[in-house]
Amino acid sequence: MKRIIFATGNEGKMKEIREILAELPVEVLSMKEAGIQADIVEDGKTFEENAVIKAKAIAELSGEIVMADDSGLEIDYLNGEPGIYSARYMGEDTSYRIKNNHLIQRLEGVPEEKRTARFVCAIAAAFPDKTVWTTEGVVEGIIGYEEKGENGFGYDPIFYLPEYQCTTAQLTEEKKNEISHRGKALRKMAEKLKERVDIE
Ligand code: IMP
Repeated sequence: MKRIIFATGNEGKMKEIREILAELPVEVLSMKEAGIQADIVEDGKTFEENAVIKAKAIAELSGEIVMADDSGLEIDYLNGEPGIYSARYMGEDTSYRIKNNHLIQRLEGVPEEKRTARFVCAIAAAFPDKTVWTTEGVVEGIIGYEEKGENGFGYDPIFYLPEYQCTTAQLTEEKKNEISHRGKALRKMAEKLKERVDIE
């Protein structure tokens, strides 16, 4: 069976990716399971560039098929901030309660129609023959006026989905995976991989 290494240390992501790639004849391994340790500098200017940098670097190290992702929150009123700096915004160790409330403050007085935002996820797959594929998934929403919900992580409590009349922190894990940026990007990649895994 073919192996795919997913370049993350995040167990939540591993669970989601295994579910989405379940129908493919591949074994999906985390970096830890593959015995790989690497600290890659993500110095790309876009989510896609960062995902490609990670996937290529680990593919070169391991000689295997490697997938990597990069994601974040883009707020239109803040010219796309925090964007690719979503994890590092206000410092990696600052709590999301503080980050979220700071963003709400920066949008104080901004009317609903100008509070548009999106979660973006880019996935890259790097193959031993040096080809690289990328996909992207987006979920559109607006920045709320207060934190709501206990599920999810990061900016979920302030990311309001008008269509569902709740934040992504108020969705079940299953529902979030179904509609999320990461779920969408992963399913697009799974579709592409089906062709390649079949023919090899
Ligand atoms: P990563 O590239 O997936 O590690 O995500 C980078 C950062 O983007 C995270 O640390 C969060 O701050 C933010 N982020 C990405 N996806 C989500 C999400 O689904 N909910 C909330 N925050 C997210």
